[in-house]
Order: sequence, then structure tokens, then C-alpha cells
Amino acid sequence: MPSEVADLVILNANELVTLDSKFGVPRIGENMNKLAIIKNGAIAVKDGKIIFVGTTEELQTQKLIAPQETKVLDASGKLVTPGFVDPHVHLIFAGSRENELAMKLAGKTYLEILAAGGGILKTVRETRKASLEALVTNGKKILDRMLAYGTTTVEAKSGYGLTVKDEIKSLKAIHQLNAIHPIELVATFLGAHAVPPEFSGKTDEYVQLIISEMLPEIAREHLAEFVDVFCEEGIFSIEQTRRILLAAEQFGLKKIIHIDEIVDTNGAKLAAELKAVQVGHLLQSNDAGLKALAKAGVIATLLPGTPFCLMLKNYAPARKMIEYGVPIAIATDLNPNCWTESMLMILTLSCYNMKLSPAEALTAATLNAACAINREHLIGSLEVGKQADIVIFEVPNYQFLTYQFGVNLVETVIKKGKIVVKHKKRTSE
Ligand code: NIG
Ligand code: FE
Repeated sequence: MPSEVADLVILNANELVTLDSKFGVPRIGENMNKLAIIKNGAIAVKDGKIIFVGTTEELQTQKLIAPQETKVLDASGKLVTPGFVDPHVHLIFAGSRENELAMKLAGKTYLEILAAGGGILKTVRETRKASLEALVTNGKKILDRMLAYGTTTVEAKSGYGLTVKDEIKSLKAIHQLNAIHPIELVATFLGAHAVPPEFSGKTDEYVQLIISEMLPEIAREHLAEFVDVFCEEGIFSIEQTRRILLAAEQFGLKKIIHIDEIVDTNGAKLAAELKAVQVGHLLQSNDAGLKALAKAGVIATLLPGTPFCLMLKNYAPARKMIEYGVPIAIATDLNPNCWTESMLMILTLSCYNMKLSPAEALTAATLNAACAINREHLIGSLEVGKQADIVIFEVPNYQFLTYQFGVNLVETVIKKGKIVVKHKKRTSE
């Protein structure tokens, strides 16, 4: 047991959700319900890392608290969890698309809005016009709200530039934000998000531009860790997706794919074949594809905010996936079509519309979400040696997170051992 003095301790938590690794990383099947909760829990932190996890009585037998050196937070009656990890976020864009809600209410589909020059392409026009500084300013506002809602790590995509210059500008914005904001960002290059208007009808030529110009420059400047493709009927085909991702692999970049959102193009099978780290959406994926994902250990990142915003009746078949042993994460998919910074909203939608249990939803938003960005060795659970990314909620138990909805239940957020939100206010500590 450690004999050092802690910088910070949290005591008396009514429930401390540890998500201890002993039930599997990622959690699969029935194990998604195992939160490894400690009642009357305590946690101690030093130099940004967790040095003790146990009950408050156990902590008091250790010599971890020194009156002058240790900050003590009392979590009596409260819930303590790992910080949320949001593993699918379109962070970098300019403008907004609030006008599209009326179009959707009038019965227009996502692809019809896109074909009419709206949707992604409208945001592309505005993002190309925006300066790097403007993109950083927009991104910071989003990250501030995410932090206030308990998110401590985010996967951040480019994808609204779609030229070499504007994709590089977007990725540089992610790097600048990572340097100035408490939320840690993992950068993803999504040059294959849409076919830009100047390549209309020439998708293969745009794919070639991605492969021969964008990927080499991004790799040379170390601007991204992941590459993502919007694989969908009428956007990028299975064959084009495979070409882009095999080229990305040559540069040491890891793979993510948007699959089977609107049409089943057999994206799940492709993701298993290419050993993608994670795939998003999966509303239409077929059974053979889902079983292939389970076998290959590809994380299915479910994005229930998107069918909610598109007013669809069908959501991803989460129960079937869990039964098949597919590891499941959840994310906001924040983008100008589906604009929410709140993982709490996503937990709620996951329960009400995909029938996840409250425990499964919390696992999907923390430990399994960390796996979706290859960060499970650092974050996603509260264990000795891991990064101290911790949230204190003003509710007594984890079931409240999906029960009381539409309000922010976060009280305090700790990132790498520093209090960054206290009593709902940002701190500079
Ligand atoms: O994941 N489906 C593709 N991309 C985003 C939407 C982007 C947009 O509409 O601006 C998504 O939902
Ligand atoms: Fe997306």
C-alpha cells in the first residue's frame, strides 16, 4: 500500500463506480452490467494519477492525507464515476443548420437535404470560409459545454474542409484546442466525409486526392491518429472505403468507419475484415456482419442522438449486438445535424430507445468508449495507476443518470487530478 501523501482525496461517496478491469476490458455481454461499485467509496490522487481506490474506512487507515497538502472533497450522498469518454465527435465546423429542423418536419430525408445542397455540404461551404482561429473559437465553446457535462476525453474529427488546405486547417484546430483545453482530444482525419461539389460525379478522383495528397501530408505532420470514412450508399462505396483505409494503414493510421447508417452496404463485414478499432451508427447492419464484428473485437459505437434528430423510428439493434458479444460504446456524434454536448442525454436515449440498462449505458460511455479510441490503459475506469479523470454527480446512485433527464447532474469534474469544474463552475486550478 502506498505511503505517499495524496494531492486530492474524495471521501464518503454513496456510490463509487470503479468499472474495475476484472470484469473485462472492453466489457462484453452480461459483463456490461458489472460496474464494480464501492459503497461509501474513497479515491486518492497524486500527480494526476489514482493512487488508492477503496472504502472511506480503508482510506482512513492509510497515511495518505496531510492537512496542508491534501485537498479533501466530501462526496456524501453523491455518485462518483470515471469521466465520460465521447468517442465520436465532429468537433470542427463553422455555422449551424437549425433551419433543417423545419425541413425534416416537412418530411425531407437526410439524403434529400444533402442532395439539395444542404446538410454536410452547407457546413463545408462555411467551414472553408472560416479561419483557423474561428474554428478554434467554435471548438472551444463546444468543449467548454462538454466538460461541464462531465466529458473528459473526446475523439475529434475533421471532415468539413474536404480540400487539402481545409482538412489540414481543421486538424490543426484540433491540435490547438488540445493544447489549450482540459479535455484531451484524439484527432481523426475524416476527409472522406462527403464528396465535395467540385468532384461531383467524380468520387474516384476525390478518393485519389485523399490517398495521394491528404494522407501523406497528415502523416508527415503527425496531425491524426485515426482515419474515418463515411461508407454509405451514394457517398463512399465499400471498395472506395477499403482503398482509403488500406492506404491509411500504410501510414500507420488507425481505422474508424461510419457504416450502415441509412442503407446496409455490408459495412460491418468490411470493418471486421480491416480490423477497424471502432465503427459508428450500425442502424442497418446485418446479422452476419454483427457476428463478424464480435469475432474481430471491433467496438460498435452507437449514436442514438442521430436517429433522434432525424426523427427515425429505428435505432441500432443494441440488444442483439450485446447478445452476439459485440463490444458497445456510445457517443454524441455531435455535428451540425445532431448538436448535443451532453453524454447524459445520450445515456438517456440509449436506455429509452435502444433498451440498454442504466449500467450498460454507463459502461458504454466510459470503459468501452475508452477502448473505442485505444485509451483503455489510461482512462475509462477508476483504478490505481490510471489517470485521475473523475466526475462527482449531485445524485445518490448511477441509476439517476438515466432517470432524471434533460438537466445537468454534474457537480465536480477532475481532469488529470485537477479540479476543472467545481459546484458547476469552471475553475482555473
Ligand atoms: O455521423 N453521417 C455522416 N456524418 C455525420 C453527420 C454530418 C452532418 O450531417 O453534418 C454523422 O451523423
Ligand atoms: Fe458521425
